[in-house]
Amino acid sequence: MLNIALPKGRLGEKVYLMFERAGFECPSIKENNRKLIFENEEAGVRYFWVKPSDVPIYVERGAADIGVAGKDILLEYEPDVYELSDLKIGKCAMCVAAPKSFRDNSARTLRVATKFSRIAGNYYSSIGRDIDIIHLNGSIEIAPILGLSDVIVDIVETGTTLKENNLEVKKQIVPISARLIANKASYKFKAEQINAVADGLKAQTEE
Ligand code: PRP
Repeated sequence: MLNIALPKGRLGEKVYLMFERAGFECPSIKENNRKLIFENEEAGVRYFWVKPSDVPIYVERGAADIGVAGKDILLEYEPDVYELSDLKIGKCAMCVAAPKSFRDNSARTLRVATKFSRIAGNYYSSIGRDIDIIHLNGSIEIAPILGLSDVIVDIVETGTTLKENNLEVKKQIVPISARLIANKASYKFKAEQINAVADGLKAQTEE
């Protein structure tokens, strides 16, 4: 049995359909929206829905053999897992954004609000800029409006949230998309099954 951690939510539903098309269907998953674990013994798969940012934890510790996580989560938590492929869905970008009127003053420490403290820290250290990180857990866009920060580092997908809050992208840090990840030990002992899944998914990203 292959244990698969899927990110709960819209992206996870798309991801499940890719697994289904790859031949690893589990029809019961579409019927029940409160249950969290679904199994299809015949296909040899057990799926479970977890919070997107928890997927790498399940995979790193071996509770899941494989899983799907956004590149943002992988860059932020740096889990000790194999990144097998880019599923080319859930595309967005990690960006620095600020009010339109913002002009950086390099003489002052820059206040950066973000949910992605490591990504923000790495980016600003790569350009040698001193910053003060303000770690928030959501609704990051509010921070510069209320004067809590100068800029934000956050995910931009359609750009609507920024626009609605009079903010704009100042710099794209890194493109993001969903990745297939595997537990390192599982990849050794269940290589055949995991590769069958990875190949079935890859075929769809190349269509
Ligand atoms: C993400 C991100 C932005 C928004 C970007 O928020 O933090 O707020 O989506 O999408 P857009 O460019 O299409 O408007 P999410 O829904 O994950 O909520 P949270 O960050 O506030 O928790």
